[in-house]
Amino acid sequence: MKEQLEAIQVEALEKIAGTDEVKALQEIRVAYLGKKGSLTGVLKGMGKLSKEERPVIGEIANKVRDTITAALDEKSEKLEQEALEKQLEAEAIDITLPGKPVNQGGPHLLTSIVEEIEDLFIGMGYEVREGPEVETDYFNFEALNLPKNHPARDMQDTFYITNELLMRTHTSPVQARTMQEYKGEKPFKMICPGKVYRRDNDDATHSHQFTQIEGLYVDKNVRMSDLKGTLDVFAKKMFGEDREIRLRPSFFPFTEPSVEMDISCKVCHGEGCSVCKGTGWIEILGGGMVHPRVLEMAGYNPKEYSGFAFGMGPERIAMLKYGVNDIRAFYTNDKRFLKQYHQA
Ligand code: DAH
Repeated sequence: MKEQLEAIQVEALEKIAGTDEVKALQEIRVAYLGKKGSLTGVLKGMGKLSKEERPVIGEIANKVRDTITAALDEKSEKLEQEALEKQLEAEAIDITLPGKPVNQGGPHLLTSIVEEIEDLFIGMGYEVREGPEVETDYFNFEALNLPKNHPARDMQDTFYITNELLMRTHTSPVQARTMQEYKGEKPFKMICPGKVYRRDNDDATHSHQFTQIEGLYVDKNVRMSDLKGTLDVFAKKMFGEDREIRLRPSFFPFTEPSVEMDISCKVCHGEGCSVCKGTGWIEILGGGMVHPRVLEMAGYNPKEYSGFAFGMGPERIAMLKYGVNDIRAFYTNDKRFLKQYHQA
């Protein structure tokens, strides 16, 4: 029996040494040490041994089992280690390779301009408001002193949805909405940026959809000089401290008197050149003193309250500030155009 055990050990160790596969090791373990394995088979015959032989053979058998187990464990650890090393080698990352560039976006030029204007007016105590782009005829026109069939409606070619619903042609309806909300009782300052729509054919200076910023200040004793001072601060902050403004008489149904504001041309400083078409001035926005009827319709007593209002196009301001010569550039989203205005 002793020889039999020793032969099993020799045979098992040979097989272990001769294999390079984890699966084969597993089979060897079952073949020798498993329930039906050869070592187990020999041990089952121990019952037939004499009392004296039993502990001797038992000891040998234990040694054989321990030796085979140890050899199996050692080999399987070695194979696992080798497999791991192979895997690490195969999956190795070359950290010296140059990375793929990440395309970083940034705010659209128009967004930056609108935010810059918002910041300026917030600093002067204005709140920023919004209004619906699908607007009623009442707020877009009637509440602004433009009754049905008023010829001045033609100034703004309109996308009608129904007889009473339309795409707002300007941000001025938010004036009437805000005054109504404050119920004719509260003084306030607000600006409202947003999209507006006109039935225009798109070209270098027209777009069927563009942006406006409306401004409105209602209080007791608001005067034309307040409007002029506010617009002067605005023009100097946006275009430079050396720019002058002038107000020209104009007409809007919702303001009386109405004005248009020009700034001095930065190229010729008022001398006259091709940029300002020889006039020395560039038109920026419209405004005026809120018409008493507009105040009244929205619930403010025009004998007690007065106000100024203005409306401007951020596209036009961005075009003048950065020398963009086609309004469509804001909407066609050519990355080469947009990227120029991303701040680092
Ligand atoms: N709503 C006018 C337009 O779209 C711009 C404007 C002019 C707004 C005068 C005003 C204003 O608030 O007082 O052409």
